[in-house]
Amino acid sequence: MIRESEDSDTAHGSGGKGLKRTLSATDLVTLGIGAIVGTGIFVVTGQAAAEYAGPALTISFLISAFGCVLAGLCYAEFSAMIPVSGSVYSYSYATIGELLAWFIGWDLILEYLFAVSSVAVGWSGYMCNLLSSWGIELPPNLIQSTFDHVAETGWVFTGSIINFPAVFIVALVSALLVVGLKQSARVTTVIVVIKVAVILLFIGFGLSYIDTSNYTPYIPENTGAFGSFGWSGILRATALVFFAYLGFDALSTAAQETRNPQKNMPKGILISLLICAVLYVAVTTVLTGMVNYKELNVDAPIALAIDRAGEGLLWLSPFIKLGAIAGISSVVLVMAFGLSRIYYAIAKDGLLPRLFSKVNPKTGAPQNAIIFACISCGLVAGLFPLHALVEMVSIGTLLAFAIVCISVVVLRKTQPNLKRPFRVPLVPFLPLLGAGVCILQMVSLPWSTWLRLIIWTLAGLAIYFCYGRRHAFKK
Ligand code: ALA
Repeated sequence: MIRESEDSDTAHGSGGKGLKRTLSATDLVTLGIGAIVGTGIFVVTGQAAAEYAGPALTISFLISAFGCVLAGLCYAEFSAMIPVSGSVYSYSYATIGELLAWFIGWDLILEYLFAVSSVAVGWSGYMCNLLSSWGIELPPNLIQSTFDHVAETGWVFTGSIINFPAVFIVALVSALLVVGLKQSARVTTVIVVIKVAVILLFIGFGLSYIDTSNYTPYIPENTGAFGSFGWSGILRATALVFFAYLGFDALSTAAQETRNPQKNMPKGILISLLICAVLYVAVTTVLTGMVNYKELNVDAPIALAIDRAGEGLLWLSPFIKLGAIAGISSVVLVMAFGLSRIYYAIAKDGLLPRLFSKVNPKTGAPQNAIIFACISCGLVAGLFPLHALVEMVSIGTLLAFAIVCISVVVLRKTQPNLKRPFRVPLVPFLPLLGAGVCILQMVSLPWSTWLRLIIWTLAGLAIYFCYGRRHAFKK
């Protein structure tokens, strides 16, 4: 028996006041690429190559893509089976039960909250870089995070007030979302075309500037510390660039707003993931061929590679920066969309204040959830540095993915008769392999990141036992 999340009514079309079904399969692929290609490829790639993997970062991207495809198939089975808003949270509420659903929902809040924030920080870096190349310098205490995390000393105060551009982009995107999904999707389409064009230009023009000596050594020797080059470095880099693929799972949060979700949702997830994997491997190959990996630990590595290429490619530099800024903006948009829908779905079940489940009848958007998402992400983006945020996103999401993969296997056993319009092939082998790849990446992340995950989880349990359990919608 499926447990009915209150949300299921509208999801199956019986409710009149729910979110509107406006998205087609093409809209989903557009939203997918809009959500996926952003700070990961434009910023994190350079840092991961410089600090962990060198040119072998391409291997990291391939391993990570493999794990994402497996998790993507599992997401597709879930989202086609129970096409409700709120991503894997709603699936688990409907099939497994309240406490575990809250646990997963809280983990998803971690993923999306920190993803929106990290992407906004990446946006801030490219924006400041662009403004600076135009001779406009913002005050230093308004463009950096308030706190930084240093391995040796822990958290330190940077002297900066707040990362203002990061807060600004979160606020702007939230305003677009409040106006309503359709307008936002149109903006996303334009931006997706721009960023894919910029990436193809980079690959096309960069190819002839590759210096093959930059590929030697392809796998730099391990320095003696776990995660610092060598195979353990490739693994740690895999967990970091995993961030670059995130966003495809955000699509499933839009299931309730999708026409014919059973068919369109798996298509949307897998096609967008595949396109991104091809783009990433190509960009990384060109990037680490153009510039030695040791020099790539900068805010705008792709722009650096173009600037280094000399006179011939100077014209491309502003386009790359503008394209990156536009591209990263769309990631903030889709991720913030996902976060607001997760708040919405959880609040509908009463585990968060029901205020967040109110839908504006004119725009069809859950307005209060969007505003709450804006405030929470704005604060995190303004206060914390990129590297700490990216690691948090990765560990939280890898955990969610591992749970999704395992749940597919469990549900096939416990609820074999559920209608499954899309089925993962080779169960239990593929889902278990997917869970294994995710867990392997989690293990490669530093202990400090694990500690933050534990603290986050304990805080979530405290909220559940003090609030959620007492206010949950009783069926
Ligand atoms: N995949 C998203 C990005 O790279 C989170 O910005």
